[in-house]
Amino acid sequence: MHSRRHFLKALSLGAASVAIASCGGKNKGGSSITGVNAIPSNQTPTAKGKELIIPNLVDTRNTTTDLWIKKQQFDFGLGSMTPTYAYNTADTNLGLLGPTLLMERGATSTINYINTMNEVTTAHQHGLHVDGPNDGGPQSSIAPGQSRANVLHIDQQAGFHWYHPHPHGRTAPQVISGLAGMIIIQDPEEMSRLPNLPREYGINDIPLVIQDKSFNSDGTIAYDVNKRYGKRGYLGDSILVNGKSSPQLTTPSGWIRLRVLNGSNARFYERGDSLSFTNNRTFYVIASDGGLLEKPVATNVLPLGPGERYEVMIELNGNESLDLFAGTRSIMSISAGNTSFDNSASTLPSILAVAPSLSTVNVVRKRSFELKENMTINNKQMNMMVIDEAINFGDVEQWRVFGKGAKHTFHVHGCSFMVVSRGGGAPEPWELGWKDTVIVSGKRDVEFLVQFNKRADKSTPYMYHCHMLEHEDMGMMGQFTVT
Ligand code: C2O
Ligand code: CU
Ligand code: CU
Repeated sequence: MHSRRHFLKALSLGAASVAIASCGGKNKGGSSITGVNAIPSNQTPTAKGKELIIPNLVDTRNTTTDLWIKKQQFDFGLGSMTPTYAYNTADTNLGLLGPTLLMERGATSTINYINTMNEVTTAHQHGLHVDGPNDGGPQSSIAPGQSRANVLHIDQQAGFHWYHPHPHGRTAPQVISGLAGMIIIQDPEEMSRLPNLPREYGINDIPLVIQDKSFNSDGTIAYDVNKRYGKRGYLGDSILVNGKSSPQLTTPSGWIRLRVLNGSNARFYERGDSLSFTNNRTFYVIASDGGLLEKPVATNVLPLGPGERYEVMIELNGNESLDLFAGTRSIMSISAGNTSFDNSASTLPSILAVAPSLSTVNVVRKRSFELKENMTINNKQMNMMVIDEAINFGDVEQWRVFGKGAKHTFHVHGCSFMVVSRGGGAPEPWELGWKDTVIVSGKRDVEFLVQFNKRADKSTPYMYHCHMLEHEDMGMMGQFTVT
């Protein structure tokens, strides 16, 4: 069953072999996510091509990890290899995306991004609360042949985030070419409080990046930088999960945790295109962008805008198989055929975490942000030389985000925020945890409370922006300081 895991040992990855040794080999429910050897990405066109790729898990805690931003190629199942870009450590050879970086609350991860492309990039850790100089925004450019180390002191609850390029005007083409990777923050306190949450990476704790792409007949990714793709942004005709079209995942039976990222340039999986499972099976949202919700939210559909993340749990019985759908389209299949892992200890806790507790009573300042179809926010386009907002460190603020017409997602760097209303009413139940990205669409103004606990000055400010990458590149972004 676990040929993939043996394969990894052969390829090897320093961090994983250390983890195996210190774990004593045996997987038990509730053991840490480091206690498992990651499954490698398979970029060769073999019979395994349809298996879900699980990017390697790289332990970055209290060490420096070099990530090479490299020209690669990847087998999308088209019969020929597609030129791509990916992030790779010295020991990995991923053709797309990048390794999943394991971080831990209280530890420091230093990620040294090495740009071997012939264009400028930056490397942003979306969802992490780190100070401006390490945030990787558009001001923190990495020229071709250069590198830049972001020093990440992890000071936030456990959660699932991602890293991706953020150069001004060029984020969309760099991300569509393959540059994005996942980050998992673990928290020892959470692990001892909730020992039975699934945490075996690649076994019962599965990272899923959903992205859409179209391809040219020569197998290249169909993306025209000059086209800009208008109001709706780029919409690819294939919906890929971890780079594959309709991949298969085999898990143990019992409770499975899926960490789902919408890493698409501009595609929304919402309304008629929301995520669901076969027969509208009930599943449970356990975490939003910034970590665990107070309690699991039972639902049978989940909307996901560009840049948003949710963690969900679903229970599989016996040898059951289920498909994950985006609207009516099946985007992957999951079957409970892995009998080599005892998943019986995994359960869905009824209480997960303390709910976000910012209070409107403490609001010292309100701001509003209007997203317009001419790609402006508050009638301004992104200007690298202009600081749009100045925020006081530690203040609680209330932000209102709204726009008519086209929908958008609004993302803020350096924080997680607490949504307090949507369209004048209650937020969606799965939005009641910490968020950093929200869907904004006509008539559904979003209000949230936010407090910044990290600083960014005018040389490396934070960004707020639409996370539809074509909108962002066209200027739907602003800069702010926290001092
Ligand atoms: Cu996901 Cu400003 O980025
Ligand atoms: Cu971000
Ligand atoms: Cu937008």
